[in-house]
Amino acid sequence: MGIQFDTATGVFALETAHTSYHMQVDERGHLLHLYYGRSIGQGSLSALYPPADHGFSPDYYACRRERGVSPDVLPQEYTGCNVGDFRLSCVVVRDETGAAGADFVYVSHRIESGKYALEGLPCAHAEDGDAETLVVTLRDLVTGLELDLYYGVFADQDIITRAAKMRNNGTHTLRLEKAASMCLDLPFGRWDMIHFHGRHAMERQMQRTPLANAIQTVSSTRGASSHHHNPFVILCDRDTTESAGLCYGVMLVYSGSHRTDIEVDQNGSTRVVTGIHDERFSWKLEPGEAFTTPEVLLGCASDGLTTLSQHYQHFIRRNICRSPFRYTRRPVLINNWEATYFQFTTDTICKIAEKAASLGVEMLVLDDGWFGKRDDDNSGLGDWFVNEKKLPGGLDPLIQRINALGMKFGIWIEPEMISEDSDLYRAHHDWALTLPGRDPAMGRDQLVLDFGRDEVVDYITEVLSDLLRNHHIEYVKWDMNRNMSDVYSRALPPERQGEVAHRYMLGVYRLLDRLTTAFPDVLFEGCAGGGGRFDAGMLAYFPQIWCSDDTDAIERLTIQHGTSFGYPVSAMGAHVSACPNHQTGRSTPLWTRAVVAMSGTFGYELDLGKLSDEECEQVKEQIETFKKLYDVLQNGRYYRLSNPIEEHRYTAWQTVTDKESLVSLVLTHPEANSRPLHICLRGLEEDALYRVESLHLYGTTSTPESGAAATDRYVGAVYSGSTLMYAGCTLTQLVGDFPSVQLHLVRV
Ligand code: GLA
Repeated sequence: MGIQFDTATGVFALETAHTSYHMQVDERGHLLHLYYGRSIGQGSLSALYPPADHGFSPDYYACRRERGVSPDVLPQEYTGCNVGDFRLSCVVVRDETGAAGADFVYVSHRIESGKYALEGLPCAHAEDGDAETLVVTLRDLVTGLELDLYYGVFADQDIITRAAKMRNNGTHTLRLEKAASMCLDLPFGRWDMIHFHGRHAMERQMQRTPLANAIQTVSSTRGASSHHHNPFVILCDRDTTESAGLCYGVMLVYSGSHRTDIEVDQNGSTRVVTGIHDERFSWKLEPGEAFTTPEVLLGCASDGLTTLSQHYQHFIRRNICRSPFRYTRRPVLINNWEATYFQFTTDTICKIAEKAASLGVEMLVLDDGWFGKRDDDNSGLGDWFVNEKKLPGGLDPLIQRINALGMKFGIWIEPEMISEDSDLYRAHHDWALTLPGRDPAMGRDQLVLDFGRDEVVDYITEVLSDLLRNHHIEYVKWDMNRNMSDVYSRALPPERQGEVAHRYMLGVYRLLDRLTTAFPDVLFEGCAGGGGRFDAGMLAYFPQIWCSDDTDAIERLTIQHGTSFGYPVSAMGAHVSACPNHQTGRSTPLWTRAVVAMSGTFGYELDLGKLSDEECEQVKEQIETFKKLYDVLQNGRYYRLSNPIEEHRYTAWQTVTDKESLVSLVLTHPEANSRPLHICLRGLEEDALYRVESLHLYGTTSTPESGAAATDRYVGAVYSGSTLMYAGCTLTQLVGDFPSVQLHLVRV
């Protein structure tokens, strides 16, 4: 395992536990991609790519008479620009003559133990020496543009990371008009593409489609990774399922505008190029300057989508998240947003907290509206000073009362935004992104701060550091509630305006780095109008992100299902909210809401004072259940047991540790006269024995057996893993509006 280089053949072999990634420096010095997939042994792969003459695919100059050695046909590690490869390019670089051209040839390489870092950008880190680094340096001989291709090999995790760094080693100014992070050529195979699309309050809906012989694009130009397309794509064999078949993941570690193109070319080869979106992007590189791309996490599994997901879930938590909280149980919280919106005072918040504390809730989070002139979402952003009309005497009296209840205190902020109606905007018009001479497009009546400017980042660092230093705040919800338009910085010259959006992200990462480093005891949660920036870049700083502004448990099923393909349960912010639900008007049983929220960070977001005594008892039980099941829920290997988007009338999922397993199921479409539900469990040990510790049917209005009879039959029974996985388990007929099931197994 690890990285090997064969000097005789020029082959680099990156080996992980179950995958091989091979590339080769060819006789002309180009770095060709040879293979990525299930582990393979020795043997030259060049026979896979014999010369093939394709009309209108030009040959390298040196091969002009041979015909058949074409940059347009050979698989590439990172493409050049305008030199004969008509497929997707990684880079567009223009020199002072106006010529756009680059043809990268091998210069040198180095292999190091440990994991490279990327200056200013979030990226994976090694834990206990679990990574090796390969850097291959290439050069374009005409412009002098030098290219470092970075490979991080996490052998045990079956993840390979990639990134690129471009340095102007020439004597003239260069302009990058596109700078992708990587290219992955899959010369053979016919693939389905899975991606995660959506909208505000309906993020990460999984969609699977066969690749067309065309270019398909998953992207965002919004200055955020977005609700609309997550920067994560899976390619899989046409017959790959959750438990069988080959699949690849391509996940960008970036939170700004991104673009992943997947092209199936004239010969049926597939090329994936991913990185920063090139629309309106351009970056001036003076001699000596360098540009670093965001990182990509590549995964590959030959035994189905679940394994691929588990690789990402594990890797994100272990090697992307740096928060001290990534492996700890987060406090069960109560958030006041859907309980009060902007209308609250110290007393109303304390009332909510008192009730919550009496039921076992551990932290109160004060959401939007506590600062500036913030009685609605039209004003106040940027003025991070307490609104004394709502909170007389400031934050401390409130925090003291919350702490006296035995609860922690958390707070909401939106540091990257500025309201037009704010003291900060009145003082610093030029700190907002707006186009000269135009009224800006407004989102929630707010503008985006120019985080590419050091003084803006410094100012916000100061203000927020004061807030965290001067008050006993143990949690921060970091929101970002509009996308970036009118992208223009008052601080940059005309020829650098194409840099604004990426400079913004670098500024945000700088602020995040400063604050999370300076306040390691504060638990940070990311948020962007719900899950509008749910990506690996943010997860480097935040161990959790609010999954969606849609708190309806039934809608959350597909949102959390989609999210689970790339991200761990411990990262998914999820709360129990009121019914009828504020976004959909739907009513669901209180327990079903909890079953869904427990497969996330778990908390409440409603006025618990409005619940009946019986409901309050349920809340108490839910919190106890969450604490009892925490290990299996959040640390277990995660298995999807259904496809709620395309197939099933229920959503079911399972988590498994060495000691126990939990199956959760929500029935979304009850049917008359239906067969009982039958599910086959996964991930158990065939020969191990499992005792049914508990089986709960929540919210089912009637079953042919009484609720107790339907569950008593199982509780205490012992089954082998093979029985539960292959014969499966049959649940009694469930009826009613959105009943749910929790089946807890303990290994005996
Ligand atoms: C966003 C968040 C919500 C809430 C509001 C407050 O929409 O996702 O949870 O914090 O902002 O304005």
